[in-house]
Parts: sequence; C-alpha cells; structure tokens
Amino acid sequence: MAKNNTLIAAALLLLVAASLAAALLYSAGPRDVDGLVGALPRATLPFSPMDVLPLLPRTAAMAALRALRGVSDIFPVFVGAASDRPGATNKAHSWTCIDLYVFATPYRVTWDYYFVGREHTLDFKEWESEAEYEYVKRKGVSIFLMPSGTIGTLRALWDVFPLFTNTQWGENSNLAFLKKHMGATFEERPKPWVSELNVDDIHSGDFLVLSKIRGRWGGFETLEKWVTGAYAGHTAVCLRDSEGKLWVGESGHENEQGEDIIAILPWEEWWDFEVKKDDSNPQIALLPLHPDLRAKFNETAAWEYAKSMDGKPYGYHNMIFSWIDTISDNYPPPLDAHVVASVMTMWNKLQPEYAANMWKEALNKRLGTKGLDLPEIIVESEKRGMTFDKLLTVPEQDKWVYTDGQSASCVAYVLMMYKEAGLFDPIASSIEVTEFTIKDAYSLNFFENNMTRLPVWCNKDDSVKLPFCQIKGRYRMELPGYNTMQPYPHMNERCPSLPPNYNRPRNC
Ligand SMILES: *[C@@H]1O[C@H](CO)[C@@H](O)[C@H](O)[C@H]1NC(C)=O
Ligand SMILES: *[C@@H]1O[C@H](CO)[C@@H](O)[C@H](O)[C@H]1NC(C)=O
Repeated sequence: MAKNNTLIAAALLLLVAASLAAALLYSAGPRDVDGLVGALPRATLPFSPMDVLPLLPRTAAMAALRALRGVSDIFPVFVGAASDRPGATNKAHSWTCIDLYVFATPYRVTWDYYFVGREHTLDFKEWESEAEYEYVKRKGVSIFLMPSGTIGTLRALWDVFPLFTNTQWGENSNLAFLKKHMGATFEERPKPWVSELNVDDIHSGDFLVLSKIRGRWGGFETLEKWVTGAYAGHTAVCLRDSEGKLWVGESGHENEQGEDIIAILPWEEWWDFEVKKDDSNPQIALLPLHPDLRAKFNETAAWEYAKSMDGKPYGYHNMIFSWIDTISDNYPPPLDAHVVASVMTMWNKLQPEYAANMWKEALNKRLGTKGLDLPEIIVESEKRGMTFDKLLTVPEQDKWVYTDGQSASCVAYVLMMYKEAGLFDPIASSIEVTEFTIKDAYSLNFFENNMTRLPVWCNKDDSVKLPFCQIKGRYRMELPGYNTMQPYPHMNERCPSLPPNYNRPRNC
C-alpha cells in the first residue's frame, strides 16, 4: 500500500471530494500509516522574508490574471520554494500583512500563519518517504500565500483528519462523520456479514455499489459521499459472457503496479478480493436489474464497450465535473469554488502532469481550446465573460476523448455501458452519463422493484428486508431514493447537491 503513486492518486481523488481536505490529510495524518518510518533526515527549513521570495508570478498570463479585477484574490499566490540549500530562491520581497501560508510537497500540505516581518522557521520532523525527501532536495518545499478567509476553511475541516487512518478509530471517524453530516445510520445487521450467494442468480447489467469505510479509500469516499449526497462511494457492473461465465467490470481497479485502471475481472477473483483482501472494509450491495431492463440489455454491445475500455486509466478527467453542476449549490460549506481553484493552483505547481490529467484538459475542452495552462484558462474564460465558477459548471460530454482515451470514473463506466447496451433508449443521445453521481445512478428506476423476485439468499438472515441485496458488510446499507427516477433528457446536468438534505428540484 505504500506506493507513492497511490498516495498521490488518493490525494487527487480527494480533491474531487473535498478539495482542501486533501491538505489536511497530508498535514496531520499519522506518519506511520504506510509503515514509513522517519529514518530520513530531519529538516528544518529556515525561511524569512529575505530569503524565500517572491517569484511573484512573472509570466504574462499571471500578470494578465492579476490585472483582471477580482480574479487574483481568489487564488493562492506561489511565493517560492524553500530548501535547505542556500540560493534556491532569490530576490527579496517585503511580505505585507501576512496571513496564511501553505507549505506543500506532492506528499503533504501543511500550513501556518504569521504576522508581519519576523523570521520564521517551519519544522518538518520527518519526511513522509524517501521519495518526498528526494523531491525536496531537488525542488524544495513550495510556499503559497493563501487568499484571505482561508483560515476559517481550514479550521472548519479539522474533523476530516482521522478519516484516512487505517484503524478502528479511522473507521469510527468515517461512520461518525457520515452520521453527523449526512444523517446516515450504520445500524449493525445480523451475521453472516458475507452472503452465501448463488452466482447463477446474478445477471448481466446487475449493478454493484460499494461503500468503503476505512483507510485512505474510506476517507476519500466519505468526503465524496458528503459532497454528492451518495450513500455509496464506488461502483462496478456484472457481465456474463457467451459461455455464461460471470465477470465484473470495474473502473478504479488497482492493478499490481498500484495504478487505478479499468478492468474486467472474473467474478471469483473480484469477490475474493473484496471479501478477503480489501482493507477498506467495503459494504457491498447488488442491485439486480429489473426484468424488463434485463431483456433490453444488449450484451454484445456491452461487451464491445467493456473491451474497448479494458486497461484504460481511471477517469480522473471527468470525475470532478459530475459533481459540480451549479455555481453555488454544490459545495457544502466551507468549500467553495475558490477553494477548488486554490487547490487546483497548488497541484498545478506541484504535480503538473497529474494536474493536466485531473482538470487542465477537461477545462480546455470546456473552452474549446487546447493546451492552455490553468492561469491562461482563467484569463481566457474571463475574457469571454465567464467566471471560473461558471466554467466549472459547463457539463461534461460523453463523447469527449482525452489524450489517454475516453475518460470514465467508476460510475460513468457503468452508465456508459448501460447506454451502449440500450438501457437509456430512446433518449440515450440526450443523456450525458459523466454528469451522473453514484446517487444519480442508483436512483434510476432500472432495478428490480418486486421483492418476491429477489434471489432467495438475498437479505436472508436479516429481519429488515432491503429492496436490494446487500452481500457484504457489518452495517446495513441505505440508498435513499433507490430505484425511483425515470430518466429524462439532459438529466443531472444542472443539479444542486447540498447537505444535509441534498434537495433536488425536479428535472434538474
Ligand atoms: C446489439 O448490439 C450489437 C453491437 O452493437 C448490434 O450489432 C445489434 O444489432 C444489437 N442488437 C439489438 C437487438 O439491438
Ligand atoms: C411480484 O412477483 C411475483 C412473482 O413473480 C408475482 O407473482 C407478483 O404478481 C409480483 N407482484 C407485483 C406487484 O408485480
């Protein structure tokens, strides 16, 4: 698990869920989560107004950006990089009334605030990993001056710290967070917590929803659930081949190199992993398709799609955009578009290649431009009279192809397969599945609605009869709004999502 790319990927995914929370994760999580001990040199990075300084944005784009009234105060300013090598930064700059500074490497983000004019020292007790140490030796620690008002944001997010630790405490924190912020219940259900299921009862198109409650994925999903209003954080889909063998299609499968990819796995392999090896303690439900939809499901077309996506990278490009639909109604406080922009700016500086993956290309697509950098994107957008908030809300289009192929998050992958297999006919051409959250997906009225037709092993030992089959988990899963929404053209392209009720107007 101690793979750096997983770490970075997790941080990026996190961004989608609750941007600034990423900062908190890496600033305060226990350092030994991944078994990385602090054998690396301890570092004290001295910095003062005289030696760190302002590479205050020099590029034409940034100058233009600052010239645009109102835009510059929402972004953090990259101040420079501090390292223990003298001369890494240059040029004095007198910091004005100092408030909040963020110190970041690709492996952590931490912050501190200072008052005018004194020398300051920031102590890094130990490095997260050898890789972080190497990075800092080469590039230093990046320092950003945050826009005013950010301190409140950071304080308000304090309780996301423990969500990411792979301990019982971390798991309890996730449950507590979801209870408090979403009103989730997490009632314990009777054993067995893993169903003795009969795979003969599982069919092509049956939907798998997972809710991970522990470790890095648990923490990420908790935040994702909170911002989207979904009671599950991951999805996959069942598929039978022409010989009747059962497979699972999944976007977000971690391969042996620790990369998240799209894969088709034999059911046994997938299930064995979830039951025995997945350390995120997933709660899993099977949502059987309604017989009419099952009859409509074109297996040939579904397989064609599955094969065309096999091995492709997970859909980082569009996941953020499925959530942001409206200018002010998608960010639970204390998040807002400014925070999203701030985190984007910081990641842009630290991990340009990941940033490109996550949003640069997607934002360019929204403008119809190519290769513009984040500041240029903002300038271009403002020139056209569109604020950055507004730009973020432009709907994703399923037909957009990115440099590494078509992009599909876990749920976009399943729904795209549904679309290919004909389940959205006859309105498929006016459905953009990349705009659907997991909640939007399980809310579709595509699933079995007659409990007597559910498989006999479904919820067999539970006194509470769920309308779907929970097949794993200690806590009873709840999917409010399950199986209720008739699809309509342009569904989910303009929907707000604000906790705790996530009220949604009709036909948004
Ligand atoms: C199912 O999909 C295949 C491949 O796209 C197509 O050739 C076939 O006509 C479809 N079958 C039906 C019944 O629509
Ligand atoms: C539910 O399914 C059973 C078994 O197929 C059938 O007898 C019953 O009429 C169905 N109920 C409804 C409300 O459709």
